[in-house]
Amino acid sequence: MPGRHTPRLDEASAPKPPARRGPRGWRRPLLIAAIAAFGTPAGARNLEAPLPTAIAHAPAATRAMLEKSRPVTAQHAMVVSAQHLATLAGVQILKQGGNAIDAAVAVGYAEAVVHPCCGNLGGGGFMTIHLKDGRNLFLNFREKAPLKATPGMFQDAHGDVVPGRSTDSYLGVGVPGTVMGLDAALAKYGTMSLKQVMAPAIKLARDGYVLEQGDVDILDDSSGDFARHPNVAAIFLDHGKPFVAGQRLVQKDLAHTLELIADGGADAFYKGPIARAVVAASEARGGILSMQDFAGYTVQWEKPIECRYHGYTIISAPPPSSGGTTLCEILQIIQPYPFARWGYGSVQTVRHLAEAERRAFADRNTYLGDPAFVHNPIARLLSSEHAARLRATILPDRATPSSEIQGSLGAAEGNHTTHYSVIDRYGNAVSVTYTLNFLFGIRQIAGDTGFFLNDEMDDFTSKPGVANAAGLVQGTANEVQPGKRPLSSMTPTIVMKGGKPYLLTGSPGDATIISTTLQSILNVVDFGMNVQQAVNAPRMHQQWYPQAVWIEPGLLTPVSQRMLQAMGYTFKPVRAMGADEAILIDPATGIREGANDRRRPAGLAAGY
Ligand code: GLY
Repeated sequence: MPGRHTPRLDEASAPKPPARRGPRGWRRPLLIAAIAAFGTPAGARNLEAPLPTAIAHAPAATRAMLEKSRPVTAQHAMVVSAQHLATLAGVQILKQGGNAIDAAVAVGYAEAVVHPCCGNLGGGGFMTIHLKDGRNLFLNFREKAPLKATPGMFQDAHGDVVPGRSTDSYLGVGVPGTVMGLDAALAKYGTMSLKQVMAPAIKLARDGYVLEQGDVDILDDSSGDFARHPNVAAIFLDHGKPFVAGQRLVQKDLAHTLELIADGGADAFYKGPIARAVVAASEARGGILSMQDFAGYTVQWEKPIECRYHGYTIISAPPPSSGGTTLCEILQIIQPYPFARWGYGSVQTVRHLAEAERRAFADRNTYLGDPAFVHNPIARLLSSEHAARLRATILPDRATPSSEIQGSLGAAEGNHTTHYSVIDRYGNAVSVTYTLNFLFGIRQIAGDTGFFLNDEMDDFTSKPGVANAAGLVQGTANEVQPGKRPLSSMTPTIVMKGGKPYLLTGSPGDATIISTTLQSILNVVDFGMNVQQAVNAPRMHQQWYPQAVWIEPGLLTPVSQRMLQAMGYTFKPVRAMGADEAILIDPATGIREGANDRRRPAGLAAGY
């Protein structure tokens, strides 16, 4: 596998032994809980209801964990993100009269400060929007390959992939899209000024914020990398040592960069001193980024992918994300299966999910790429005929070897990403996933800009048939070309019921993003879980290659696992998979139910 082993955020922030205390001790202000809490009014769904019968197959410890899982409720508006201060920044904007788009932009900038592994200025992402007037929109602010990029740029003279070139060097950096994306969303559908929505982020960067254990766990994973670059170490290490919980992280350089953007808009980033600093650092370290790349960067408003599942409408990410297409293809295949009767975590459910995913990922890995460069056969992939044909190949009694499934080459891609959800009092809903790819991207900061740069170029095919740094193998539809956007798995999704937003969902985690989003939907729609149970429940994933089914602890009982093994299934245990920061809107009362994924202890659902 090319590239270093970069720790996954899923590993980094999986539940750990009791948190150690920082030197001064710390306690998250009780205020946060107070802001988050809202009594359940009469007529609302009964969140105290006994566990749904569809969870009966789950191991006892999982049932006990789900028994205690309750969402945060609020009457008017809700924000859920992987870092509590970013959530509170969004709530502050909503309370000041901003709409969900204003709040989403505020959260995006705040996460760039308080969740720097993944929240970003130096990366890119996608935003799925439902407007109160009924329109569904999708904003593509995915990074682009520099103009000097070539299909073979990650290979040596012999055509072998050079380990680390797409992940550890400036050659891995795509032209960032986040600043223009947030700017475009705000300009078109926001109501506040850039200065207003950026104010919380600037304050958090300038004054600093107190690190919690969940924050420190993520920083810890990359502290060795921080030490290699003095300008990074000066910010993200405490006199050369990793920060501990309770210490304050101050980011003055980042505050200055944010102020330049607040004053000058996206031009400050793409045409001014920030672009110049990144290009200078890139040139000094063997990269190919140019001022032309920054000046020519554009975002795209696209039509979202839409499909139906069990009476719900799914609104999700079109190419250059594979997320919405693959999610919908899987839903099309599994549509006729009686999951509610089979039950969560049952042998039948898990194996039919695995087989549907195996087939949909074979298609994903073969056919999808940036639609500005390659044809994506979406209509065919999402047709009921195609789903029926694939369903017919699922064997009644045993696993299908991935080698028997045609699609051609295998694939999926990079990780470490973050998802957040916002709904306002008017009914505007925003689902955002954005990323640097790996944790902290290339783990380098250009000069005194204060923000990490992405390694999104690793999401391209470095060489057809050869795994990328995330261990995923891709085809020519996703080969590097100048100005092309790498194929993503990010799946910011809004599930609609009766024409209104019902569930906002999405996740980090490479190709597992699609599985996490899928299972949150199934957990609510088919298994009757509340939204906190839906995001907390252990998950599985299959992506064609490798052959194994990835499972989190607590998904299967030992008996179910043995039965599946007897049918030819192999398993890759993973400590934690994904992090869905989700919101469900009770159709009867409009009550907003927010769920911070248990896998992100620094995160928060809060509303008013
Ligand atoms: N870099 C992760 C993704 O875009 O899927």
